[in-house]
Amino acid sequence: MKTVLTRALLASAIALPLVATAAGFSPYVDAKGGISRPTDFRTHFVHLGSYAVLDEKSAARGLHDVYTEKASAEHYRKTGQFPDGATLVKEIRKLETSAMTTGDPVVWGSDAAVWFVMVKDAKRRFAGNPLWGDGWGWALFKADAPATNAAVSYEADCMGCHVPAAQTDRVFVQGYPTLKPH
Ligand code: HEC
Repeated sequence: MKTVLTRALLASAIALPLVATAAGFSPYVDAKGGISRPTDFRTHFVHLGSYAVLDEKSAARGLHDVYTEKASAEHYRKTGQFPDGATLVKEIRKLETSAMTTGDPVVWGSDAAVWFVMVKDAKRRFAGNPLWGDGWGWALFKADAPATNAAVSYEADCMGCHVPAAQTDRVFVQGYPTLKPH
């Protein structure tokens, strides 16, 4: 009896989050739907794929690397859907170019400039929050203020450009080989 109680207490203590999060939903989302930037994605998430925007006129010029949790990628490979709570991080790094022994030019990503984050919400938890809708929470973090979500409205700041991916849950899956069944 005593052991059982201790175990139960221990389990609840371990499950207790440091900040108020939306009841076990996502470690990156607080109770009001505020999204924070995952900082350990390069080592703890899996890499889904990359887009390189070479267009010199584009504000998005850079190397775009996209990551998600390993379990979320596995779930997608099995079902073709992102699970509730899945996190997508797109890191944009500035482009460097030079001739290398592999070719000329060769481009690669240097310092991170911005991070775009999407968190899958299959239950419409934050209906009144302008950063949540179309099945996701949406956030943007810039390198000069990486703790602040610079997006204010997903409809104004994000959705216009994500319409072409409406058939694939707003995600441009064609660039992510990790999501393909193998
Ligand atoms: C200028 C158009 C544009 C805007 C604005 C935009 N996106 Fe995207 N986003 C894209 C495109 C196109 C891709 C995939 C190709 C690429 O990265 O160049 C993408 C990819 C992503 C990805 C990687 C997963 C995926 O959907 O393929 C995330 C995460 C993301 N965007 C989040 C956001 C968030 C959050 C906002 C708003 C704060 C936003 N985006 C605004 C065009 C845009």
